[in-house]
Amino acid sequence: MADNYKRTLVTCALPYANGPVHIGHLAGVYVPADIYVRYLRMRSRDVLFVCGSDEHGVPITIKALQQGCTPQDVVDKYHGIIKKAFADFGIEFDIYSRTTSKVHAQTASEFFRKLYDEGKFIEKESEQYYDEQAHQFLADRYIMGTCPKCGNERAYGDQCEKCGSTLSPDELINPHSTISGAPLVKKATKHWYLPLDKYEPWLREWILENHKEWKINVYGQCKSWLDGGLQPRAVSRDLDWGVPVPVEGAEGKVLYVWFDAPIGYISNTKELLPNDWEKWWKDPETRLVHFIGKDNIVFHCIVFPSMLKAYGGYILPDNVPANEFLNLEGDKISTSRNWAVWLHEYLEDFPGGQDLLRYVLTANAPETKDNDFTWKDFQARNNSELVAILGNFVNRAVVLTHKYFEGKVPENLKPEAIDGEVMSQIPAIKAAIEENIEHYRFREALKEAMNLARLGNKYISDTEPWKVAKSDMERCASILYHSIQLCADIAIACEPFLPFSMERLAKMLNLENRNWESFGNVELLEPGHQLNPAELLFAKIEDAQIDAQIKRLEDIKKANEAAAAAAAPQPTVDPAKERCTFEDFEKMDIRTATVLEAERVPKTDKLLHLKIDTGLDVREIVSGIAEYYTPEEMVGKQICIQANLQPRKIRGIESKGMILMARQADGKMRIVSPEEPLTNGACIG
Ligand code: 2FM
Ligand code: ZN
Repeated sequence: MADNYKRTLVTCALPYANGPVHIGHLAGVYVPADIYVRYLRMRSRDVLFVCGSDEHGVPITIKALQQGCTPQDVVDKYHGIIKKAFADFGIEFDIYSRTTSKVHAQTASEFFRKLYDEGKFIEKESEQYYDEQAHQFLADRYIMGTCPKCGNERAYGDQCEKCGSTLSPDELINPHSTISGAPLVKKATKHWYLPLDKYEPWLREWILENHKEWKINVYGQCKSWLDGGLQPRAVSRDLDWGVPVPVEGAEGKVLYVWFDAPIGYISNTKELLPNDWEKWWKDPETRLVHFIGKDNIVFHCIVFPSMLKAYGGYILPDNVPANEFLNLEGDKISTSRNWAVWLHEYLEDFPGGQDLLRYVLTANAPETKDNDFTWKDFQARNNSELVAILGNFVNRAVVLTHKYFEGKVPENLKPEAIDGEVMSQIPAIKAAIEENIEHYRFREALKEAMNLARLGNKYISDTEPWKVAKSDMERCASILYHSIQLCADIAIACEPFLPFSMERLAKMLNLENRNWESFGNVELLEPGHQLNPAELLFAKIEDAQIDAQIKRLEDIKKANEAAAAAAAPQPTVDPAKERCTFEDFEKMDIRTATVLEAERVPKTDKLLHLKIDTGLDVREIVSGIAEYYTPEEMVGKQICIQANLQPRKIRGIESKGMILMARQADGKMRIVSPEEPLTNGACIG
């Protein structure tokens, strides 16, 4: 790794502490970052891995309101759950803190104050919605009204969840407060803005000219923001949850969550290294890398760098390898719709399955486009890759070494028995893994690492040491010697991806030193080195386990559909008709009848030709019900007809009467029938 940096600071997006984390978080941000950090650590690089919970912002106050508790209760609960989930999946941060920490409040406050004192903000008054009953300004999410696009009466001030439109509170019809239900008034309020427009020329140069190597999705999004022209961004909010704005007269105002959250990276570093944090943030020999999801690109590539530039003395990110999104079984992952695989629940269903999920999420990572997680793919990758390739190779190599060489790396190989062909392929694979990891292409890197196991499997299958053992023990020794060396290479190469199973493999091999440099060494394990008994690294997943997961999702989908149907506005009724007289009504001859025969009227979609028994006669009627009933359904049905309607010719057929249908305003139609069968010709009225 030839570069000019002395150390690398890796950060992961601070997850909001308003819910647990799911596979989308892991795939997009935390697993790739952890792979990168593990790799750097194995290369003995000076690296610091920083994360924590994002505990401010409106979503947390809304959750508290919904759950009838305080925002502090909410973040205490989820901070613990999230921190544990990361630890359970082997995401080994050097620090996982929180933005409600004291150090953070001080750091964020000081950051704001310096920019304020130096006149780096614009102060502006604007009219905002105010709830006079709750005595507070309302964030867009606290405002509800009717969506101007689809008529949903429960649309939020920032979005209609029914039709998906992005909205502003001004667009809502009848906007009102979700806190008190009161209608809203507009009131002037003062806020501070970071004039991003002033940083635009510098950002263009820094990103568009000097960081052409950034991932295409990241570079493209930055370019589109910059080409669209940047506007000043408010960095404060009227809210009672957050870091107070440290300015006189700013009571009731806090720093906007997107101002304080990225400062969380700095404060968490400070909390971990109170005397040594500055070298990680201010020394140009530190490389800063932010791992994030695509929805955070603008904040990490444009807003936070502008804040750091405005403050001065800070380094800027060297790279921001943002990923796209992971979908679940074809649908966007959604916390509110419970359409997710939650990490803590996954481990209940697949105990010890951390590496399996890490593997699937990396092999299928949304690095360049949105990708889909499916349970079938999960099963296939386990059974035909982890079990059949990696686990199988290791197991064969270790079991056979126990069988023929008492579990010792074969010794006294004769030079002519040395079979270097397999080992000669390792340097190229090692170089490919490095090249890919260093360019944030983790799926490709994993594929290369798995090629080591593919190579080993093929080697053992081609050479068949169990057959060779019958006639040529020296050759068998050579094959297993190389196979075991290859297992040791795998224990190093796959460590960043599959840390739990590679730890077990290393134990099986009694391999103590797993630094990256030794990967590819001709002799990682000396002849005579004692191995431990073989154990299976991965287990097959049966269909029943997968079917249960798919069923769980189907049940969630059904529950969501039922909830959506219940919430959907009911079709309204048609307007009332003009009054008619009793005599008018009396003129109508409405009777029961039974359908004797029915067929479609040729070349029409809507018409059925029916023969009916009216009790008075047998007659023919043409009726526009083919969209709702098939001819087979109609035969034998008792119906009601208007019997004395003037006959009409329809498609050449004389239609004598009309079938009574109930028609809903949305167009749905059903036949009107007596509650129980009556004789044909019974009069209605
Ligand atoms: O999108 C999110 O989940 C944010 N909480 C990420 C914040 S990243 C950083 F700025 F702290
Ligand atoms: Zn809508």
